Amino acid sequence: MNAPARQRPVVLVLSTGVPTATVDALARHFEVLRPIDGHGIDALVAVHGARIRGIATTGKTKLDRTLIETLPALEIVASYSAGLDNIDADALAERGIALSNSSVALADEVADLAIALMVMARRRLVAADAHVRSGAWAGGAFPLGGSVRGLRIGLLGLGHIGSGVARRAEAMGMRPRYCTRRPVAGCAYPYHPDARALASDSDVFVIACPGGPRNRGLVDEAVIAALGKDSTLVNIARGDIVDERGLVEALASGKLGSAGLDVFADEPRVPARLRDLPNVVLTPHLGSATIETRDAMGDCVVQSLTQALR
Ligand code: DGY
Repeated sequence: MNAPARQRPVVLVLSTGVPTATVDALARHFEVLRPIDGHGIDALVAVHGARIRGIATTGKTKLDRTLIETLPALEIVASYSAGLDNIDADALAERGIALSNSSVALADEVADLAIALMVMARRRLVAADAHVRSGAWAGGAFPLGGSVRGLRIGLLGLGHIGSGVARRAEAMGMRPRYCTRRPVAGCAYPYHPDARALASDSDVFVIACPGGPRNRGLVDEAVIAALGKDSTLVNIARGDIVDERGLVEALASGKLGSAGLDVFADEPRVPARLRDLPNVVLTPHLGSATIETRDAMGDCVVQSLTQALR
């Protein structure tokens, strides 16, 4: 049974990216506030700021220190995303405000896509599809691709998503190794303390670390150069972790073999040179984009807020 509206904790739905079904589910437990046309966030906070105990948002919407300071009763922020790029986690931590994401719900979906991009890039499946559609098959067989079996796969980041990619890769006969800030306790994969060392020891290099200022530009020219002409780079994390210009140069000159990219530095804009390259597979930030996973992410947000506030 729904609690009477006045007695329910107040939750602000900060981002328009939180789906309607999730907002409806939140409204069964909470008094829900949303910035609507003509009543922006400032006006809403001026009237209700002192009562707001929870926020539902996404990593794309800015939640900065200034806004956090206007919310004295805030206890939890729940994000409908894995990435928390635009949320000031330090400002929340200083006040002991909980911050949850939905990476548990989306990790398998994103890991599936990383593996798909890797296989598509190494076996040139986009070109193979065009070969059939264009009728070129009748004129000759499609060139052989490269197998992944036995290859070393380097995971830059070994959280829920990176571990999911590693498990799938092992099942395909690949050999995972990883780089994180500190070795993961109990993890048997070979560890590298920095991205360049990992790249030197990888045939396939998968970026699966968080975005945000700390990791911006982490995969720079030196890291890309440490990968070889037969190597594949896969990015399902954030576009600005990679030096995109350096990546295009390496792919165009043949110093790097191929890439599978779901994320870009300035989405939805993708550089024309990158779009023209035959040795890349490009998808429009689809990592978590299935009906089932988006539902599960919404459930995650509702669960985090109800557990914290009821
Ligand atoms: C997220 O939720 O942060 C991911 O980018 C989904 O693809």
